[in-house]
Amino acid sequence: MTATKVFPLTDLAPDAAKRVVLDGIPIAVVLDSAGIVHAIGDTCTHGDISLSEGFVEDDTLECWAHGSKFELTTGKPLSLPAYEPVPVFAVEIIDGDIWIDPEARIDTEKKQA
Ligand code: FES
Repeated sequence: MTATKVFPLTDLAPDAAKRVVLDGIPIAVVLDSAGIVHAIGDTCTHGDISLSEGFVEDDTLECWAHGSKFELTTGKPLSLPAYEPVPVFAVEIIDGDIWIDPEARIDTEKKQA
């Protein structure tokens, strides 16, 4: 699958998340306070909860159910009870629209090497 246009950048408020489903994969699209758009797996790894219903704070998205915070750049949980990361997807902004390819997962392990 190639990248898909999801919605205009203007549909996202700062420090807010919006859920999309691409190719059957739920994705939380987030605009952080620095103006950067992120796309991470929308399902919390601790339970079947939509992370886009949680809270954006700095570079994290917090699950509303039990408070695990996931780092937007790596998908890693920074606090328990979740301990498994969510996937991170490549995002492009083209002519004011957000494009995401659900098969283009970013290898966050390489970034930290
Ligand atoms: S379901 Fe997300 S932290 Fe428990």
